[in-house]
This record gives sequence, C-alpha cells and structure tokens, in this order.
Amino acid sequence: MKGGGALSLRARLVLQLLVLAAVLAVLLFVAVRTVAGDAAEETLDGVLGAATLAIADELRGGEEGVSVDLPHEAFSILGSISEDRIFYRVAVEGATITGYADLPMPGAAQGPAGPSAPLFYTAPYRNTEVRVAMVRRVVLAGRLATPVTVLVAQTRSGQAAIAARVANRAAGIGLGVFALAAALSILTAGSVLRPINRLAEAVGRRGPNDLRSVDHPTPAELRPLVESLNGLIARLRAALMRTETFIAEAAHHIRTPLATVRARAETALRKAESEDARETLRAVIRAVEESARSASQLLDHATVVYRSDRPARETVDLARLIEGLVQSFGPVAGLKDVGIGFEGTGAALAVMGDRLLIEAALRNLLDNAVKYSPADTDIVLRLSQADGSACVEVADRGRGLSGGAQAALTRRFARGANVGDVVGSGLGLTIVDEVAAAHGGRFELTEREGGGTCARFWVPLA
Ligand SMILES: Nc1ncnc2c1ncn2[C@@H]1O[C@H](COP(=O)(O)OP(=O)(O)OP(=O)(O)O)[C@@H](O)[C@H]1O
Ligand SMILES: [Mg+2]
Repeated sequence: MKGGGALSLRARLVLQLLVLAAVLAVLLFVAVRTVAGDAAEETLDGVLGAATLAIADELRGGEEGVSVDLPHEAFSILGSISEDRIFYRVAVEGATITGYADLPMPGAAQGPAGPSAPLFYTAPYRNTEVRVAMVRRVVLAGRLATPVTVLVAQTRSGQAAIAARVANRAAGIGLGVFALAAALSILTAGSVLRPINRLAEAVGRRGPNDLRSVDHPTPAELRPLVESLNGLIARLRAALMRTETFIAEAAHHIRTPLATVRARAETALRKAESEDARETLRAVIRAVEESARSASQLLDHATVVYRSDRPARETVDLARLIEGLVQSFGPVAGLKDVGIGFEGTGAALAVMGDRLLIEAALRNLLDNAVKYSPADTDIVLRLSQADGSACVEVADRGRGLSGGAQAALTRRFARGANVGDVVGSGLGLTIVDEVAAAHGGRFELTEREGGGTCARFWVPLA
C-alpha cells in the first residue's frame, strides 16, 4: 500500500462511521443537557412563582396603606427544594415596605408583569446571580388604587448542581453511544467488505493457467468489476489461442518448403556430374539443414517461452519419459554406432511439471550428447533423486567442452568453439536452462571425468 490515496476501504469506512458516531454523540450530549437544564429551570421557576403569588395573595389595603402578612409556607417550600438563599421585597410605587430594598427591578426589556402570571428574570445581586419572580397587584389603600410589586429572588447554585449532574450523565450517555457505534461500525465495515474480500480470494486462489471466467456470486455493485474482469480474461484467452495457432502455422510454413528444397538439392546432387556442382549442392544442403534446424529450434524455443509463463502442473513420470526419448533417438544414434544406456532408480520417479517442457529440455540434452559424440561410444542416462529433486544425468564420451563455460554456452544462439562441422543453432541449452527455471529446478553442464561431457538437470519432486 502506498501514497495517501491508498487508505484501505475498511479504514476509510470505519473512519467515516466513527466521525459520524462522534458527531451524533456530541449532539446527543448537547440535546440532553439543554433539555434537562431547561426542565430544571422551569420546575424551580414554578415553585418560585408560586411563592411569589402566595405573598401577593396576602397583600391587604387599609386606611393607613398597604400591609402584608408573609406566609411562612411560601419560604419553607422554597427552602426544602434547595440550599439556595432567598430574598424578597414588597414595594409600593418604588418605596419598599418590607424586605431587601436593593433587590433589582426588571429592566425595560423584561416586559410587564401581570397580576396572576409572574414575570421571571435573572439579575446580578450581591456578587452573585439571582432568579427573580415578580408579581404586580393593585390594592385599594385609603380609597386609592395602589400598585404593589412583590419580588421573590433565589440564588441558583442548586440549579447549577443539577445541571452539572445532568451534564455528567449526558457525557456518559454520549460516550456509551459512541462506543456502541464504534463497535457497530467495525462490524458493518467487515460485513460490507466481505463480498469484496471473498471475490479477491476466489480470484487469488486460481492457478496461473486457470482462464475460466469468474462466476463467483457477487453483490450488484461488484458486478461491473467482475464483468470487465471476465472480458479481460476472455480477450487474454483469445490472444493466447492466436499465439498458439501462430506458432503451429509458422512451424508448418517454414519447415515444409525447407524439406522440399532439401529433397530437390539431394536429387540434383545425385545427378550432378562436375565436382564443382556437387560441392555447391553439398553447401546448399548444409545451409538448408542449418536453416531447418534453426527454424525448428526457434519454434521450440517460442513454445518454451510461451508455456514457461504458465507451465502445466501435471505428474510426469521421468523414467517413462526418458525411455520414450531413448527409443526415438535410437535410429539416429544407431547410424553413428553410438549406444544409449539408461540407468533408472528401479521405481517410477514422478515430478510435478509440464511434460512438454521437460521433454523438450531432455530431448535437447540427448541431442547434444548424440551429435557431439564420435562413433562407437556410449551415452549413459542416469535418473536419481536427492534433496527433494529428481536428477537426470546425460553423460557422453564425446569431444568435451574445450573449456567453454556453461554461462556462455547457454546464451541464445551461442555455440562452442568445439562444434566443428556439427549442425546447430545455439538454442538447445537456452531451452534447457529456461525449462529448469520455469520448474524451480537447475541445470549444470560439466566436463566428464575420463573425457566427454556430463549434463545434469534437476526438477523438484511431486
Ligand atoms: N554434449 C556436449 N558435448 C560437447 N559440447 C557440447 C555438448 N552440449 C553442448 N555443447 C556445447 O554447447 C554449445 C551450446 O549447445 P546448444 O545445444 O545450446 O547449441 P547447439 O547444440 O550448438 O545448437 P542446437 O540449438 O541446434 O542444439 C554447443 O554449441 C556446444 O559447443
Ligand atoms: Mg544442442
């Protein structure tokens, strides 16, 4: 994973859900606090208002003016709710007749107070803030309608304590909701991404040559992806088919005319009368042989390159394969009086790989052994197993490598200085090397003790 844009889908989803959960938790906290705070204030205001009205109800008018009997219950109810301090003031036209004369009247903004519904306001008083309820009544005193104002004030440390308790609870609820949402968001992310992971697994599990289309059940959102993947697979399959057909056709088109040229040249050679013409025709035949060899090795090599990308994985019985090769080389070797012996392990030795590729590699080794051996010598093929690998050894009593290094001889089109007039293209060992690599195996070419060459080819056992 690289770059900032490569944050995993899961991380992205979880992160966004967490942000959402955090916002919701904060909103919940604020809402609970506000509603609870308002409710507490309303309750306390109700009691304060009731006390104020109770005092206003006790206002009496007489000949001497306005008098009031402070009802004891009004204060005891207020005192029972909280530890807050209580102040009161009864004023007639601005003159206080009882209570705290400095208790503030409402500002102009607070509006008028009615006779039955108290007016509530908050005002600073004696280094703190008080909540004040005010009722205005008109009392007949000395036959005059006299407006009387009753104020009851209360400090609100009780309400602050309630608010703090509520805030704590609200924070707890917010945190709880957040934790729950976090857990749910992780579960959600998992379940949303499960189909994607399943699809990735299903595609990842496929072998390298599995070119069937993907028919894994997927949710609708992934269907376009699966469809384009299947389109890609279909195009790839078609391209591979074309390559295969091309290789086969190329083989046919190059080999057939070369065979015709060769046949004609041989006929001409038999009929030729001058030594000059025969010399020329022999050169032509040799050139045609070289071309035919090159064509066939090039095509073999193309096949190997093409199949190495996705070698078949089948069980290959090496002993059976070698026996087949020995038989097919019999006639060629017989012409030179070269014997081919095979020493197997006695039991079948199976490796996991591409039969066609392994056969191409061993054919090239045997081909080299036969063609670089003089007459009346023997070639020995030995099959053994060690360290989890099968080893095929091809040993001849031929001309040896004349100091040619393996690395140099396995290069494409590289031929040794020892080849003399032996026809070849220099692709044989390249093929062997590539087949060994495609199978996770190894190849080694050395001088053989006592003269000749020894080639060893390893493939991991099944
Ligand atoms: N058994 C052997 N004895 C002696 N020299 C060998 C042997 N096998 C390989 N070599 C040397 O290694 C060189 C490369 O071998 P390679 O099979 O790649 O090419 P080639 O045999 O020359 O051509 P071709 O592609 O037709 O097989 C040969 O040209 C030869 O010099
Ligand atoms: Mg060769």
